[in-house]
Amino acid sequence: MKKGFLLTLLIAAGIMTSLSGCAEKTVPATSDETVTTEYISTTVPIPDGPVGIVASTDNNYSEDTTAMGVVPDTSAETTSETTVETAMEVTGKQGIETINGITYIDGVLIVNKTYSLPKDYNPGVDATAESAFKKMQSAAASEGLNIYISSGFRSYDYQSGLYERYAQRDGYAAADRYSARPGHSEHQTGLAFDLNSIDDSFAETKEGKWVAENCHKYGFIIRYPKGKEDITGYMYESWHIRYLGVDMATKVYESGKTLEEYFGITSEYDE
Ligand code: DAL
Ligand code: ZN
Repeated sequence: MKKGFLLTLLIAAGIMTSLSGCAEKTVPATSDETVTTEYISTTVPIPDGPVGIVASTDNNYSEDTTAMGVVPDTSAETTSETTVETAMEVTGKQGIETINGITYIDGVLIVNKTYSLPKDYNPGVDATAESAFKKMQSAAASEGLNIYISSGFRSYDYQSGLYERYAQRDGYAAADRYSARPGHSEHQTGLAFDLNSIDDSFAETKEGKWVAENCHKYGFIIRYPKGKEDITGYMYESWHIRYLGVDMATKVYESGKTLEEYFGITSEYDE
């Protein structure tokens, strides 16, 4: 097969793969029966998800030096399972790859209002992120602080039910400020955790302050910082941390930027 023709095929396949993961333009109805818990919240209603980790003193941690969302082998050959597109071809941004409908930038898995996940992407909690959390939890405990995961991995269907309930209660526009539409939640990656009370009060607690100052040392960032709603697409969430690996999290933290600013990307629904 001629190289040019092969490239054309790859591009077409890649675009289709990308499109298959695009944003839902309408909010899907849900019949998710797993969503049974009502929120307890002061100002911002927050998701209750499957509880991942509770207080632990387990010290069997793996070293947390791996950058997350490491892109699978992207050599020139393409299999039916893996289609690789460079940003130049799909988005115009260098360093972006879409693999099986999942977006990576410089090897970091990206999910926000612009970049979605396939409905069937259902990895469960990420083992490396969980291990890093335990390490952080142990460090916090050594200072007399209690941090724990209140919502970890959430499937597409779970998020769908969650978002729909919020939308029915507060209206879609309001819900979009604090709850991701299905396919757009970082919780579906297994790399994001909501800590402790999952409400605004967390920021003022000793634990909340400690997490803000220290979580990058364990590979996490505060994903939706204060005053950045127009950039991240979401209101301030002091409790929502995203695992990036120590190196990347430290770089992002020291830059003072959101992940969107760091990579120069948008977070906007395609509507
Ligand atoms: N609360 C965040 C944005 C989510 O629903 O994933
Ligand atoms: Zn969250």
